[in-house]
Amino acid sequence: MLRFITAGESHGLGITAILDGMPAGVEVSDEELSFELSRRRKGYGRGKRANIEDDQVMITSGVSDGKTTGAPICVVIPNKDHVNWKGRYVPILAPRPGHADFAGMVKYGFDDCRPVAERASARETAGRVACGYFAKKLLEKEGIKVLSWVVQIGPISAELPPADKRMLSEREAERLFELAEASEVRCPDFAASERMKNLIDEAREKGDTLGGVFEVAVLNAPPGLGSYVQWDRRLDARLAAAVMSIQGIKGLEFGMGFKLSEVPGSKAHDPISIPNRPSNRAGGIEGGMSNGEIIFIRAAMKPIPTLQTPLSSVNVKTKEECRAHAERSDVCAVGSAAVVAESMVALVVADALLEVRGGDRW
Ligand SMILES: Cc1cc2nc3c(=O)[nH]c(=O)nc-3n(C[C@H](O)[C@H](O)[C@H](O)COP(=O)(O)O)c2cc1C
Repeated sequence: MLRFITAGESHGLGITAILDGMPAGVEVSDEELSFELSRRRKGYGRGKRANIEDDQVMITSGVSDGKTTGAPICVVIPNKDHVNWKGRYVPILAPRPGHADFAGMVKYGFDDCRPVAERASARETAGRVACGYFAKKLLEKEGIKVLSWVVQIGPISAELPPADKRMLSEREAERLFELAEASEVRCPDFAASERMKNLIDEAREKGDTLGGVFEVAVLNAPPGLGSYVQWDRRLDARLAAAVMSIQGIKGLEFGMGFKLSEVPGSKAHDPISIPNRPSNRAGGIEGGMSNGEIIFIRAAMKPIPTLQTPLSSVNVKTKEECRAHAERSDVCAVGSAAVVAESMVALVVADALLEVRGGDRW
C-alpha cells in the first residue's frame, strides 16, 4: 500500500512528507524532485512567496545511491520564508470567508485563526508534490504518464480541440501538456494565456482573486486498476477523493462528466472495438476500474479566499463587524493546483498498480 502524510506549517521551519510503501529499485534524483517542486511554485498569479522559496529538498531516508530502498521515504522542504516570521506572531482575528479560519478556530478552541491558517495553507502541497514525484517515477517505468493543463481561468476559456478529441489521443494530450509547460498560466492556448494573464492583473489591481478549471490525463494506464468489488476500491472514488482533497478544489468530472447526464445511452457510452475504442466519453474508467483508455479528469478550483480588498467578517474578540484579515497571497493558483493534482493522481494510480503487481521491488 502506497500512502503518505505531511507535516508542517506555512511559515514554520518547513514541510515534511513521509511516503510509505514505495518499492525498492526506482531511480530518483534530487534535481528532478526540485524541478517538480518548481513546477508547483511558479505561475502567473502566484504571490511573492513563490520567489522567496526555492524548495531545496532534503531526502533524509528511503533512498540510497540514487535508488529507492523500499523503506519509508522522508522528504524535508525547508521554508525559506520562516526567517521572516520567526519570533513574530500575527494573529488572525477576522476569519477569511472561504478559508478554514472560522470553523478551524471553533473546532480546535483557539482564540484566533493563525494556527488554523498555518496548517490549512496550501504550502502543504509542496509535500504532496514531493511524494507525487516518487509515484511518477514508479509509473514512468511502466510507461504511464500523468499530465495536466489549465483550460479556464475565471470566465476565460482556452480554445482547444474538442474534449472528446483531447480524451482520445495520447499524442494530443502530450502536445497540450508541452504547450502548457511553456505557458505562464499553464494553458496550452497562448492567445487565451495572454487574456488570462491580463485578467489576473486586473484582479490583482482590484484586490480580487480568481479560480479556474484544469484537466489531468493519465496515459497508458493498463485496464483493471481499482476494482468494482468494494466501494473504497473503486478507482474513480479514490481519484476523486485525492483531487478533491487539494485546497480549493470544488468540482470534479471524469470524461464527459455532467454532460453524460444530458444524452441518451447510445451517445454516452464508448463502443468497444479493437485496437481502440472510437470514443472515450467515460474518461478511461468503467465500473470503478481503468479500462485501458486515457484516464481523464477535469477539476474546478474556487478563487483564492485571501482578498486584498476583503469581504466582511467579524472580529472574534470584539464581535464587531469588520473586513476579513488580509495578508500576502496568491491571486490565482490554478496552474499550481493542476501540478498538485498530477501528484495526487500519480499517487493513487501507483497505489492501484502496486495492488495488481505487488510492491517489494520494481
Ligand atoms: C497551490 C495552491 C496555492 C494556494 N495559494 C493560496 C494563497 O496564497 N492564499 C489563499 O488564501 N489561498 C490559497 N490557496 C487556496 C486555499 O488553500 C483554499 O482555498 C483554502 O484551503 C480553502 O479551500 P477549501 O474550502 O477547499 O479547503 C491555494 C491553493 C492551492 C492548491
